[in-house]
Amino acid sequence: MASSLAVHHCSSVSRCQRVPWRLNGLGFHPLLTTTSSVIRAQKRVHLSRTYCTAKPFVVAEDEKYGNKQVISVTPRLYDYILSNVREPEILRELREETANMRGSQMQVSPDQAQLLAMLVQLLGAKRCIEVGVYTGYSSLAIALVLPESGRLVACERDAKSLEIARKYYDKAGVSHKVIVKHGLAMDTLESLLLNGEACSYDFAFVDAEKRMNQEYFELLLQLVRAGGVIVIDNVLWHGKVADPMVNDAKTLSIRNFNKNLMEDKRVSISIVPIGDGMTICHKR
Ligand SMILES: C[S@@+](CC[C@H](N)C(=O)[O-])C[C@H]1O[C@@H](n2cnc3c(N)ncnc32)[C@H](O)[C@@H]1O
Repeated sequence: MASSLAVHHCSSVSRCQRVPWRLNGLGFHPLLTTTSSVIRAQKRVHLSRTYCTAKPFVVAEDEKYGNKQVISVTPRLYDYILSNVREPEILRELREETANMRGSQMQVSPDQAQLLAMLVQLLGAKRCIEVGVYTGYSSLAIALVLPESGRLVACERDAKSLEIARKYYDKAGVSHKVIVKHGLAMDTLESLLLNGEACSYDFAFVDAEKRMNQEYFELLLQLVRAGGVIVIDNVLWHGKVADPMVNDAKTLSIRNFNKNLMEDKRVSISIVPIGDGMTICHKR
């Protein structure tokens, strides 16, 4: 229950990242001139390092969870996680090419892509759909693990992003597995249904316009077979879903979508706090 967890330690990631680098290589800020100010600064750094590295976890606020501790990903721990991802060379190349582009933060992280690929493999999926391709990182991760006869319908409205995605499908030798649908995702999903493809897909990944999540989900639930899986990205929305002070349209719609899913008996669900939070839905 995310809402009953509170951050007890290392509450500000940016502060954790910044403090050690505020001092130069010698450990002294150029503007700190007196000995006592240097010592005070050193103490602050020491404290913040201890503070940030010693306890990278959060504790459930609700006592009924028995002081349950769960991991809280600090920058150092996240580096460690990334260093333990088996990212295929071609995905690394695509990630690095995209890194300098506008919107690069939209790409799923390597650890997320690895989980998506594993789900596809665990399901033995042959027919997949992705809503929101961008430059192709997550779709390529999926296509790479599909069997030769497998197909991924990749929905994206932005032609420029698709150029890069196509280049990498080619480079990776998986173009024959990816059916690119350039246009609005809702139109594509509706046309698949009209085409008689209900209950014929094994796996779907949703990562496009967040305010449309419920609409995408309803159509995908018709397209995916019983036992199939739908994964939705950004369900934690940088933590804003759990902050009652944040009530902008996008946050409200994601919060509402999460609430609906919680009550939706058509699927089993699991929120996984990876990346910006992904919900895995298993169609009953
Ligand atoms: C978060 S990015 C996808 C990132 C991608 N999954 C990856 O890992 O690289 C969202 C993408 O969805 C696309 N998008 C947003 N609304 C859309 C819509 N209504 N129809 C199709 N694509 C849409 C955007 O153009 C953008 O490229």
